[in-house]
Amino acid sequence: MAMIFEQESRTFSEYLLVPNLTTRDNTPENVDLSTAIVRYRKGKEASRLSINIPLVSAIMQAVSDDGMGIALSRSGGLSFIYASQSIDSQADMVRKVKKYKAGFVTSDSNVTPDATLADVLAIKARTGHSTIAVTADGTANGRLLGIVTSRDYRISRTLPDTPVRDFMTPFDHLVFAREGINLSEANDIIWEHKINQLPIVNDQDELVGMVFRKDYDEHKDNPEELLDDHKRLIVGAGINTRDYETRVPALIAAGADILCIDSSDGFTEWQHETLGWIRRQYGDAVLVGAGNVVDAEGFRFLAGAGADFVKVGIGGGSICITREQKGIGCGQASAVMAVAAARDQWFRETGVYVPICSDGGIVYDYHMSLALAMGADFIMLGRYFARFDESPTRRLLVNGTYVKEYWGEGSNRARNWQRYDEGSAEAGKMAFEEGVDSYVPYAGKLKDNLDVSTAKLRSTMCACGAKNIVSFQEKARLVVVSSTSIVEGGAHDVIQKESERRP
Ligand code: IMP
Repeated sequence: MAMIFEQESRTFSEYLLVPNLTTRDNTPENVDLSTAIVRYRKGKEASRLSINIPLVSAIMQAVSDDGMGIALSRSGGLSFIYASQSIDSQADMVRKVKKYKAGFVTSDSNVTPDATLADVLAIKARTGHSTIAVTADGTANGRLLGIVTSRDYRISRTLPDTPVRDFMTPFDHLVFAREGINLSEANDIIWEHKINQLPIVNDQDELVGMVFRKDYDEHKDNPEELLDDHKRLIVGAGINTRDYETRVPALIAAGADILCIDSSDGFTEWQHETLGWIRRQYGDAVLVGAGNVVDAEGFRFLAGAGADFVKVGIGGGSICITREQKGIGCGQASAVMAVAAARDQWFRETGVYVPICSDGGIVYDYHMSLALAMGADFIMLGRYFARFDESPTRRLLVNGTYVKEYWGEGSNRARNWQRYDEGSAEAGKMAFEEGVDSYVPYAGKLKDNLDVSTAKLRSTMCACGAKNIVSFQEKARLVVVSSTSIVEGGAHDVIQKESERRP
């Protein structure tokens, strides 16, 4: 007969934290949110990679491209660039993050001179950016022919089919700078000429990037920025258990700082083989996480196979229908606590601490605090990050509300068959979907939202008497809440003035 676990599995919303004594120095400024994310001999050496806030973005087409990688690393977290794309384009995204220079932005809104005002307005609606580069081939690095900003046209006067060449500010009227200029020199030119943006071009007049006046303050103050020894941003990348012999070398050559095997079920011999291959080729020089698992057996298997961290969670993702389709998974809170206990046991046995990442199912900000309190060393989020300007998907107006697209890697749209691979010889096939294609409410800039979420996390940690994540895990006291007390936790028995759901 099948083995039945004694306890039912639970999820985050079924728990609350009970406060501990808050001491006078338990203030939000004194809270350190940094966390070690790769295996180390705790107490004897430091982990080779720590992040400054305990959040990483999901290995998904709709979440983690180079734009998200740059924005999140600048805020102290880390993105794992999605693996369900060609090796070349994934390596290219990694390279873009590593080459990024603060303040120098790759133009994401570009047209050819033959495009029309209607095209310009469509791009503006999609990206939310009003500065559009006009290049010979319409790409971000083509020969610069001009710039269009909202000062160049009047919607009431300029016809929608007017070609861009007729109303753009042409190159010979533009203030621009040559590649090699530093940020402070670029800002001086912006102030001197009272302009809002400065295009940077190379010797062939090809566009290299833009410096924007509005970014000036932002670039001065990024205390959490996650940098390597060469002051480049740190970035991760997803891999799979099929083409790792070519993908891993390409990603390492592109500069990826850490890899993660992306799979819905990590308790497999394929993950063991992939980790084994990486260790044979690179020893410990390449950092690689594995997953996903939901119990002690899965954790021990991957930790034993050499994973630098282990990712936890099956079926809890917002776009995930794995539990419905296959009947596989476990409530995310129970999974995190079971794997955290296994990690601690592993540490007692071996002296090696293998961090764990809670992946998926974060709905409210307080779920982040719960996941950490339950033992997660860091958290992976998809839906949360998909809502921001920096995610790669389109922003659309649906029924009067701005939304962003968000689809699962197991949906027909992403067709990431490697993630759901069961080793069949018939590679490239997905017999059924394990994810949906959806919208999420658009939420603006990543930094603004992260600041609020991390402020809540700091505040919760203060209430629990913890100044860092390790002590939070040690001190946290959690209680299971009844369904009636969950109702009590929201606003109730009042007539709310604005009906809004708080994130
Ligand atoms: P979220 O933060 O709740 O949106 O969950 C994101 C996580 O869901 C990802 O990091 C993946 O582990 C998982 N995921 C991504 N795509 C799919 C899918 O199509 N089906 C099931 N799980 C998925």
